[in-house]
Order: sequence, then C-alpha cells, then structure tokens
Amino acid sequence: MEKILVLDFGGQYNQLIARRVRDHNVYAEILPYTTPLGKIKQNNYKGIIFTGGPNSVFDMSSPHYTKDILDLGVPILGICYGCQLIAWMGKGEVVTASKSEYGKIEFSAKKSPLFKDIPEKSVVWMSHTDMIARPPEGFEIIGFTDECPCAAMQNTKKNIYAVQFHPEVTHSEYGNKILHNFLYEICHCSGDWVMDNFIDSTVEKLRAQIGDKNVILGLSGGVDSSVAAGLLSRAVGKQLTCVFVDQGLMRKDEGDFVEKTFTSLFDMNFVRLNCGEQFLKKLKGISEPEQKRKIIGTEFFNVFWNEIRNQENKGFFAQGTIYPDCIESGKGDADVIKTHHNRVNIPKDVQFAGVIEPLADLFKDEVRKVGEKLGIPKELVWRQPFPGPGLGVRVIGELTAEKIKILQEADWVLRDEMAKNGYEKNLAQFFCVLPNVMTVGVMGDHRTYDHLIAIRAVTTDDFMTADWAKIPYDILAKVSNRITNEVEHVNRVVYDITSKPPGTVEWE
Ligand code: XMP
Repeated sequence: MEKILVLDFGGQYNQLIARRVRDHNVYAEILPYTTPLGKIKQNNYKGIIFTGGPNSVFDMSSPHYTKDILDLGVPILGICYGCQLIAWMGKGEVVTASKSEYGKIEFSAKKSPLFKDIPEKSVVWMSHTDMIARPPEGFEIIGFTDECPCAAMQNTKKNIYAVQFHPEVTHSEYGNKILHNFLYEICHCSGDWVMDNFIDSTVEKLRAQIGDKNVILGLSGGVDSSVAAGLLSRAVGKQLTCVFVDQGLMRKDEGDFVEKTFTSLFDMNFVRLNCGEQFLKKLKGISEPEQKRKIIGTEFFNVFWNEIRNQENKGFFAQGTIYPDCIESGKGDADVIKTHHNRVNIPKDVQFAGVIEPLADLFKDEVRKVGEKLGIPKELVWRQPFPGPGLGVRVIGELTAEKIKILQEADWVLRDEMAKNGYEKNLAQFFCVLPNVMTVGVMGDHRTYDHLIAIRAVTTDDFMTADWAKIPYDILAKVSNRITNEVEHVNRVVYDITSKPPGTVEWE
C-alpha cells in the first residue's frame, strides 16, 4: 500500500492533513518529528508532508529535523511552519513578519506542478507570524500575497514544495486541489487506499495487539462505540464482551434495537443491564439539571464498573474514542484545548492489560463509512447526537416513568414524520422535549389538562452554534396533529424558535 508520511511539528490541523490525503484515496500516517530518519527511510513513503506548528524555527527549542531528510529523494510538501522549516534547513532566511496574516488572504500563484489547474488568483487560509524573507538556494518563489513575498516555493530538481498557507482547511479555495496535485502530479500516487483497507489493516493490528486476551467495551448505542464494537468483533469475535447499560432513558425501543443489532449481526458476548428502575429511584425528587446529569453519569459508571468487577479475564478495555476527542484532550504536540469526557477514569481496583481505541485516528464521517462497510444498520451509523444522560435532560424537572413514556411516544411520532418527509438527513438534530408544563385544552367536548410537548430542531455544522430549523408549516402541522391525537396526555405542541446562542440545543 502506498503511504504518505505526515511529519508532525505540533500543528492543530495535523490529523486534518492526514484525513484530506485519505480523502484522495492515499493512506497517510502521522509520526512525530522525533522519529529517526532511519525509520522514515525504511517505510518507502511516496511523499512526506511537514505540518504546521505554533513555534518559530529560529527558536532553538522548537521542533527541528535533520536536513538530510531533504536529500532522501522523496517528494516533500511543507505547510506553514513546515514551509519555514524547509527554508531554515536550506539556509534561506526566515524572519518575523512586520504584519501577521490571519484568515482568508488573496494568493497569487505562479506556474508550478503544485498549482496545476488552479487560477492565478485565489483565496487561501493563512495563520502565521513568521515568514520566508529569502528562499534557500535551489528554490524559486511560486506564490505571494500582499504581505508575504514568498508564500510558496519549489525546488523541482529535488521535488520539494512548500506553502505558507494551509491547503488542508476548507477556507483555502483550491487547497484540496493543491493536495491532489502533490499526491498525483508530484508523488505519482495511484490512489490505492479505500475504507476496506483501513478495516483490514486495523483488524490485523487489533489481532496482533490483543492476542488471546479478552476485551471489554462499554457500548452506548452511539455511532462511535457501535463501530468500535463492530471492528473488534471482526477482529477477535467472542473474545469481545460488550456491556450495554440501558438506563431507561433512551428513545422508544432503542435499547431493544441496539441489543438485536449486536446479538444478531456480530459474533461477540453481549451483556445488557436493564437499570431503568434503579436510575429512577436515584433521581426521585431531583429536578435541578446539573444534579440530574451528575446522578445519571455517576450511576452509569457505578453500574458499568460493578459489572466489570464481576467479569473474569478482563484483558483490555476498549473505547470508541474518535480523533476530535483526542485533539480536544491534547494529543501529540498540539496545544491542549480542553479535556474531553470520553477519556474515562478507570477505578484503581479494576485492572486492565491496556486501553484500546481503534477509531482514534478517524473523523466522525470516516467512522460512519467504516460502520457502513461493517454492515452496521443505517439507523445506528447515521444516528444523530444523543446526550449521555438521554431523555433525562429532555424531561424538564423531576423524572417519572410516565413522563418518560409520553416523551418517547411523542418523539417517535416526530422521527416518523421527519423520515417520511425526507428531513432525517437534512437536519443536524431534532427531538421532542417535555417541559413539564400542563395546559388546558379541549378534546371532543371535554376540557383537558395535559402535557405540553416542545419540538426542537436545529441546523449546525459544529454544534457550537446552531440555527433553529425552518421546517415547513405543513410538516409541523402534521406532527402536532399526530402527537395530540396519538400520544395520551398531550394536548398542546409548540415549536422552539431559539438559536444557539442564546439557547443551547438541549433544554437542560
Ligand atoms: P448543547 O445543549 O450544549 O448541545 O447546545 C450541543 C450538542 O451536544 C449534545 N449534548 C451532549 N452530548 N453528553 C453528550 O454526549 C451530554 O451530556 C450532552 N449534552 C448535550 C447535544 O445533544 C448537542 O448535539
């Protein structure tokens, strides 16, 4: 299999570079800048990409690399810090720019195989304070901006290219094309990497790592843990035990669906712990949202670890951690952004041979592709985000079995109508909320005093901000009509027209 090396100098976008390369059907792997040249030589890479990074090349404590790498005869693309590093290694001149460039900048390209079929002027994404004042000997300038006289350079004899901007981010108009040109015009890749290869190579690696030991995985029914379970099952079959804690706060029939899917489709041991009553007891009398979240979270892990304590031959602990979880908790040399919830603390009295995270290099949409290839049903693979505390934060105030049931039924109607009208994939998230408000209504000739249901639907790319979804009135009317007719104890439906901010997606 052809491989591209992404040599990591500590930038935030390193995984994104690897992912963009994989999008072009070429396998990319990331190694730290501390990897010895000997190891790099052994791998016969088709090309090497030097990543960006937050440092200055002329600071001696910054990550550097032996300049012998420039003589390997392997094509190189330097990005941002990687571009400055190539200049610095080749004894060009790197200086602090009089004015930093940040954001979308107009870039002028000259003729180069790197810029094949891209216009002379285009928009690129810049984020730098240093810049190349003079390229090294043997290099020519192939692009510039108003502030940066050498925003791209090449040495065609040595097949070394470098750009000051970030082609890997979508804000660079022709970034993808530039990466494509590097891979196909310069490295002459054939594009032999597809998702099946990822599955095969990961399964192989998992088998080698796990040997004859067992693996325990906490299955939530979410996309990531489901796909991790599918991969592990393919790798080690019955050596895998999935523990599924059903806290009684999932959507209608969801617990049964998860159980049926995993017990019928996959070779594994499956333990389902039905704990609805136990959770409700713990939550009795509690209405404050943070307290509810805390109790649900704590109880979940109490149940989970108690079950694990009973398991013999525990072996490894597996998690469905994906790449964005890792970058947020700080992987490699990237600055730590925030600690992520997916990294669970394993109690001291529970011993494992190690932690396995088979999806840690992938982004969500890649995980979904793997899931589809593994034959996991679309309902699971394309599942919308669902909060860990489940319906516990969608029933406002104190939880009761009756309120949960009402919400499950109303939510099911909404999902059914959205699916029928083709809205399932168009919206980032939609669900019902039971605000714990009773209102007066009339049904037949009778006065009713029943629950209000709120519909929440949003569009968003990243869930940090969100817009309320402009669902057509006739669909809303149909949903409202069906909920009030089909769900007992609901006599009114409202639609939430609040964006985030100032609202959040969930109500609690
Ligand atoms: P908010 O309500 O913060 O939600 O705007 C943003 C996204 O996060 C989901 N969410 C959660 N996901 N555990 C999770 O795994 C949680 O406790 C949790 N709370 C909110 C929410 O559904 C939305 O997609």
